[in-house]
Amino acid sequence: MSTIEVSSVKKAYGDLQAVDGISFTVNEGEVFSVLGPNGAGKTTTIEILEGLRERDSGDVKVLGFDPWKNGYELHKKIGVMPQGFRFFEYPTPREAIKYYADLFGVKVDVDGILRKVILEDSANTYFTKLSGGQKQKVGLALSLVNDPELVFLDEPTTGLDPQARRAVWDIIRNLKKEGRCVLLTTHYLEEAEELADRVAIMNKGKIITLGTPQEIIAKYSSGERLLVRGNQTLVDYLRENTKLEVRFDGNGLITILVQQKHDVLIALASIEQSGLEWTDLRTQRDSLEDIFVRLVGEPIEERAEVA
Ligand SMILES: Nc1ncnc2c1ncn2[C@@H]1O[C@H](COP(=O)(O)OP(=O)(O)OP(=O)(O)O)[C@@H](O)[C@H]1O
Ligand SMILES: [Mg+2]
Repeated sequence: MSTIEVSSVKKAYGDLQAVDGISFTVNEGEVFSVLGPNGAGKTTTIEILEGLRERDSGDVKVLGFDPWKNGYELHKKIGVMPQGFRFFEYPTPREAIKYYADLFGVKVDVDGILRKVILEDSANTYFTKLSGGQKQKVGLALSLVNDPELVFLDEPTTGLDPQARRAVWDIIRNLKKEGRCVLLTTHYLEEAEELADRVAIMNKGKIITLGTPQEIIAKYSSGERLLVRGNQTLVDYLRENTKLEVRFDGNGLITILVQQKHDVLIALASIEQSGLEWTDLRTQRDSLEDIFVRLVGEPIEERAEVA
């Protein structure tokens, strides 16, 4: 049985079709990432899966439950970190964890959870006094209180500095090692590439592609390219003397498309034969980000929404 099964799910807010007929499955123990620009429908999707929002149509099973009909049973087994997590000002992380444990009616190893999210040093600091990254870690800690099989993290690292982001990545990797399934939304392509077993790219309520990062790159990549710095004369020489596709940005950067390995040798031989100046030789292939930008048509905007 898959951990999550989604089939033809739709959700509209008035005239706006926020989720427009999406289907996917998430396997046991998998880190699955939903990527997409602002307003793509990620949070709406994740809230439908958490049982916090009612879908208009389609089928959803999460750990075997219909999240809207069997929310009570489901909520005991999942952990949720909502987007832009906030908490009351005055509890400390230690108190917040105890409070949540009481709500769930479970006994917790508070220090174990604090250690897991690397928050031991701030265990007794009021929430309001924590940094943005520490606040996010409290959100992660609370999502783990009930020892969940499945954890939903809605943009857990938005607004964090690179170091804090990497600390959260380590936490997510450990969740996977412990055998938990993680559904993660993010704006950071490299985060999905780094953590996710499979990725769904969402735009305007639809999933436009789904697969492992490598599969998506292989499917949409425009192939490998050889980059070299040189002038227009070198570009002309290459175009006249080889059959290679050569692009020039007018500013010294020459891009040569490599269809097969042999093309690299042809390009290099021709560059050398030209006797012209060249520098800075390197190869390049598409990252998930390059493909995302092409598919969605806009780079993801960075938002610093964490205090
Ligand atoms: N409660 C609501 N009422 C009306 N419209 C909503 C509501 N929640 C979301 N929307 C709209 O639905 C669309 C999808 O929103 P959603 O929050 O699911 O996107 P998202 O992919 O999570 O975006 P972001 O990356 O900004 O978090 C957006 O156009 C949003 O304005
Ligand atoms: Mg969102």
